[in-house]
Amino acid sequence: MHHFHYTGQNLTCESVDLAGVAQLYGTPTYVYSAATMADNYTRLAKGLAGLDVQICFAMKANSNLAVLRHFANLGAGFDLVSGGEIRRVQAAGANVQRSVFAGVGKTEAEIKLALAGGIFAFHVESEPELARINHVAGKLGVKAPIAIRINPDVDAHTHAKITTGKSDNKFGIPMKYAAAAYEAAAKYPHLLLRGVQMHIGSQLTSVAPFVEAVEKVAPFAAELKAKYGITYFSIGGGMGIVYRDALASGQQAWWDAQPADQRPLTPETYGAALVPLLKPLGLKILLEHGRFMVGNAGVLLARVEHLKRGAGKNFLVVDAAMNDLVRPAMYDSYHEIVPLHRDTARRALVADVVGPICESGDCFAKDRSIQEVGEGELLAFMSAGAYGYVMASRYNTRSMPAEVMVKGSAFELVNARETFEQVIAGEKIPAFLK
Ligand code: LLP
Repeated sequence: MHHFHYTGQNLTCESVDLAGVAQLYGTPTYVYSAATMADNYTRLAKGLAGLDVQICFAMKANSNLAVLRHFANLGAGFDLVSGGEIRRVQAAGANVQRSVFAGVGKTEAEIKLALAGGIFAFHVESEPELARINHVAGKLGVKAPIAIRINPDVDAHTHAKITTGKSDNKFGIPMKYAAAAYEAAAKYPHLLLRGVQMHIGSQLTSVAPFVEAVEKVAPFAAELKAKYGITYFSIGGGMGIVYRDALASGQQAWWDAQPADQRPLTPETYGAALVPLLKPLGLKILLEHGRFMVGNAGVLLARVEHLKRGAGKNFLVVDAAMNDLVRPAMYDSYHEIVPLHRDTARRALVADVVGPICESGDCFAKDRSIQEVGEGELLAFMSAGAYGYVMASRYNTRSMPAEVMVKGSAFELVNARETFEQVIAGEKIPAFLK
């Protein structure tokens, strides 16, 4: 469910006409729906009702300050993975006391920053990391709260680049070494064993791998509670969203029309399967969803440059490119593409939707059937709120796109399009070339 829909023939986000946003701020521009984010947060919390839940939004999915502030206002903490992300949370006017710090290579400086901010816990990925966190905490004269990430060796059945819970991934400590890792951790004087963590992958579309992983790790979590008094179990993130029928999936009717055995994962089915497994533990449950919270809450607006009719192939050249939204090029991912102005009288066109960047990989969709559109007309790439702007780059010296947030009938620019001066600000010609 989300708040992007046609009002008459025009695509709107909540009550805002998206063509007007494109007119005002140009394209390519990301637009986020505050109501959709709030709904996603609330549905997830309700789906796990009965548990003591702390939602730590995986801000790697979307770290715009306005998005962070919105989630902080709703009561969320954050799953963060770098010193930069810690500073972003602080810059958004939130604190990191409800947040966890993950990642396989935290530096001493980052650990220090997290401790100074009062981080809820470090999610530790290896034994050398335990030693490093203990060392930094010792220097500061504090105890660092930690949880160890367990790799449950469960196949998440998702894209190879975003699966994390198999034993051949770089993440976490295998179950068979986990007890020894906790024993080692308990011996460090500056560590406090606060929890246990797992995360098996991203864009999971069925609940079965979550159940399998929780069933594997829950007995161990119970042991850790008895032995070390841990207080929480983080079951990670990874809930998938609808990409293919993205626009339609904004409406309840679409969900009702799906055959029961093909219905995509929802917070309700996720909760119904997991609450009975988690409740007996009597632990606080942390959730680290990123994509589910923001994926369907954002679109990328683009303008058509040309419709190039080739030999047996049409190319719709748009002003957004793989630097703005890299997911199709990187993961062959599907984003639905819809016109901002719908005209049912027009024919459908089959075309490759491509950006202007000089490589063939700069392709958003192959042989896509889309309403015929011409130069200057506007399109939206759906489900672009997660891993969109955050993965954008300046490739081909293209500026980072703009970001806008909508709430009801209000909208504001929450990140201005980068200027050329900002792009080259750090660069200089060395003296030996002058
Ligand atoms: N927790 C941990 C430890 C993670 O590594 C991740 C994502 C999450 C939580 C959040 O997962 P989510 O709920 O968003 O699925 N760039 C890729 C996705 C990479 C995910 C990396 N880890 C994409 O665009 O599909």
